[in-house]
Amino acid sequence: MPWNIKTILKKFKIWRSLKARLFVVMFLLGILPSVLMRMAILDNYESRAVEVRISDVQTQLRIIANHLITYNYLQDTSSEMIGAELEQLSNLYSGRVLIINENLKVVKDTYSISEGKTIISEEVVRCMKGTNTVNYDPVNGFIEITIPITEAVTNRPASGELPDDQPAGEEVVRGVMLTSVSTDSIVNTMDILNRKALIMQSIMLICILALCMILVKIMIRPFDRVTRVIGEVKEGYSDEIISVPDYLETEHIIDAFNSLLGRMKVLDDSRKEFVANVSHELKTPITSMKVLADSLIAQQDAPAELYHEFMEDIAEEIEREDKIINDLLALVKLDKSAAVLNISVVNLNDLTEIILKRLRPIARKNNIEVLLISTRTVLAEVDEVKMSLILTNLVENAIKYNREQGRVEVTLDADHQFFTVQVRDTGIGIPQEAQEQIYERFYRVDKSHSREIGGTGLGLAITKSAILLHRGVIKVESVLNEGTVFTVKIPLTRTLV
Ligand SMILES: Nc1ncnc2c1ncn2[C@@H]1O[C@H](COP(=O)(O)OP(=O)(O)OP(=O)(O)O)[C@@H](O)[C@H]1O
Ligand SMILES: [Mg+2]
Repeated sequence: MPWNIKTILKKFKIWRSLKARLFVVMFLLGILPSVLMRMAILDNYESRAVEVRISDVQTQLRIIANHLITYNYLQDTSSEMIGAELEQLSNLYSGRVLIINENLKVVKDTYSISEGKTIISEEVVRCMKGTNTVNYDPVNGFIEITIPITEAVTNRPASGELPDDQPAGEEVVRGVMLTSVSTDSIVNTMDILNRKALIMQSIMLICILALCMILVKIMIRPFDRVTRVIGEVKEGYSDEIISVPDYLETEHIIDAFNSLLGRMKVLDDSRKEFVANVSHELKTPITSMKVLADSLIAQQDAPAELYHEFMEDIAEEIEREDKIINDLLALVKLDKSAAVLNISVVNLNDLTEIILKRLRPIARKNNIEVLLISTRTVLAEVDEVKMSLILTNLVENAIKYNREQGRVEVTLDADHQFFTVQVRDTGIGIPQEAQEQIYERFYRVDKSHSREIGGTGLGLAITKSAILLHRGVIKVESVLNEGTVFTVKIPLTRTLV
């Protein structure tokens, strides 16, 4: 793993805290400008101070150079006035002054070390040709300055007339003044400035630290509130909508939390309702059985026919209980996952025919005609058991909720992608407002007649789950007292989704 700053920072848990990041960013933004400013000011001060020093020394040197010519000092160094001037200059700038004549010989050295010696340095030679030189050595803390000692020479001929192209006079270099002045005073001033700036900076650092801590605390407070508010929502999911409107971000988090809470509430309500329905549905047959058994026990000499009749009723209730439990188990299995599908290629014409054959005896009781309409053979990749569950439930309903001498038509068709099964009946129909709810567990439109018609209200819930597992859809169209059409559309192959 490459070791960059990000991976190193990630190792520190604290770096994952927004508080820590905000603090570091704000602190750097606060302190960096003052550090940069201190460095820039000191640097600027140094170059400016050196410039001024050079210019001052050059001016002084130029004045003294003129005096040197006036008093012919290069030939005769006895002038006390010049000597004093040179001493004063070297004392003033804690430096050394050398005066070198045309032959590069030192005629005067304020340190009295090099007098009489010859100096052949690059600067001196260049200065002899009339060029000023300046060298600043910041490491050793001195500035070396050379200026030429020049004399104005008149070219005027004896006649007094000058040709047009000849200058009236020119500056001739008679020698060089070589000075090195110390920059200690500049360095000292810089040290003092630097120390003062550091003290200021330390005070600023403490102030910025305190300010950052306060600001971060204030900025983070809404997020702490979000955590607290969410923590306050107990397991029972209170109905109250919570809100932390301080930032757009906290508002978004709370909005998302509220909608999650809403969804969980809906799920929780439906779970409670389901548990209540299951308990009620399971209890009803048991209550009936208990009543029947109790009444038999209460009668001392009950006739055999009554026993027989009551036992038949009890057997019916047991059957009902058994159906509810089986339906519930089927639903639980369907809820688990799509992996439980046992796919094979199924001839749907044959399957439907078998189911209709099984259900026709029930239909015949009410003189209901059951028909299969199919123009082609439909082969599909489906789970055969679940597919027969779908068809059985739909056709069973079409028979159950039909009228005397009614009709049930099952139409089978397919295109290149999907097959459709349509179950059409001439029954009682489903009111518009109930059409959405019929797929809910235990939902029955007409609760008062549900017992005599028979059923638990789980059939369509099972049907819909099985269809969804096949990645299909189911829709219902119905006209009250005229009939209902259920249409199921499922992909022919599993890869086609
Ligand atoms: N073809 C239909 N015509 C009219 N109403 C229907 C039809 N199919 C379903 N319904 C209504 O939808 C309700 C739910 O149907 P579902 O098959 O889920 O339950 P059920 O038939 O009552 O019981 P079971 O669990 O035994 O199937 C029914 O009680 C009925 O009111
Ligand atoms: Mg049903």
